[in-house]
Amino acid sequence: MRIAVIGSGGREHAIAWKLAQSIDKNKIFCLPGNGGTWNNVPVKADDFAGIEKFCNQNKVELIVVGPEVPLAKGIADYFAESDIRVFGPSKDAARLESSKIWAKKFMKKYGVATADFWMLEDGDDIEQVIDETDGNVVVKYDGLAAGKGVFVCGNRQEAYDALEELKNRYGETAPFFIEQKFSGQELSIIGFTDGKNFRLLQPSQDHKPAFDGDKGPNTGGMGAYCPVPVCNEDLLKQIQEAIVLPTLRGIQNEQLNYHGVIYFGLMLTEEGPKLLEYNVRFGDPETEVILPALKTDLLTLIRASLDETLDRVAVEFNDGYFVDVVLASGGYPGSYEKGKVITGLDDVSEDTLLFHAGTEREGNRIVTSGGRVLNVVARADTLAEAIDKAYREAAKISFENMYYRKDIGKKGLTS
Ligand code: GLY
Repeated sequence: MRIAVIGSGGREHAIAWKLAQSIDKNKIFCLPGNGGTWNNVPVKADDFAGIEKFCNQNKVELIVVGPEVPLAKGIADYFAESDIRVFGPSKDAARLESSKIWAKKFMKKYGVATADFWMLEDGDDIEQVIDETDGNVVVKYDGLAAGKGVFVCGNRQEAYDALEELKNRYGETAPFFIEQKFSGQELSIIGFTDGKNFRLLQPSQDHKPAFDGDKGPNTGGMGAYCPVPVCNEDLLKQIQEAIVLPTLRGIQNEQLNYHGVIYFGLMLTEEGPKLLEYNVRFGDPETEVILPALKTDLLTLIRASLDETLDRVAVEFNDGYFVDVVLASGGYPGSYEKGKVITGLDDVSEDTLLFHAGTEREGNRIVTSGGRVLNVVARADTLAEAIDKAYREAAKISFENMYYRKDIGKKGLTS
């Protein structure tokens, strides 16, 4: 079998790396890939005709989609009539991520534990809600916004500023809603579904803010770890019952064509776990730890999702803890310079994984080409050791203006 992995981040490098444990790596193609991947093909993730042409010419039978945009644009529907199979949900099903309003209504309809919400189209008085809550709300834009459509507000002024910002960015009639604000730790539960069954991977935790102590602007994710000690068996059971199973009922009832990965972005609140959002794909950087932690063959899980036989596959995990420290370009998530030569990659110990993200090859050198540049992933028997090891290895790498958070995984040591 020949496989095309769509996307260019650390997530896609990790997917290709894991697939290379199932089949000869020469049969895996990365479209467009990055400086760490191989068989790179310069076709954009949403260029469906370009992907089709490459797959036909190279006898690719399976497309594994990393990012959300091609799924939201209907890559699974585009190939529905062809012999090439796409691992990922249909455009309709991808609304769980691409329309936050649609997803919120889905959650309500199927009794998924989530925060209360108010929206104009339901006749709710938004100003009244902001006044009554003193602006302690979350304002969410409906569409895909690359992590920039969520505003966590602490007073009325912030809530009104968020509404203004949405209008400036997306127009006077930008669709949005307001959500009850909770506090607590966030948790990512990511699994496979064939539309009838789920298989969940290890619970993981992302670190979205740029700086230590969850300070600074939100990024795509500055690091992750798994498993998460606070997510014990009892909590996992609650999450299954309050969130995962109602979602599965909804997918079935709405007859969504869903053969892919589903991501539950949760908050652990005093009222129990609440679903903040769905994503219809692997998380980034969570994938860089949950795939190394997965013992079961990835291709087996993908095939079973496509064949609707997930109930026959047992998921097993590797022992220990996995920690990913993201090395980023100075200035990210704002503007940053590219083309910085990366040194020290060959000094990293062999049992540490390096998943490239914003890198490219320039002759014999690897240079930066994005905000999140590299993922340094270490495994150890304890979380503390895995953290230490990831930082020891990360310190061997450098490029001009490199920065990284120094507290990845710390929450897992205290909870
Ligand atoms: N880690 C967050 C995301 O993938 O959306």
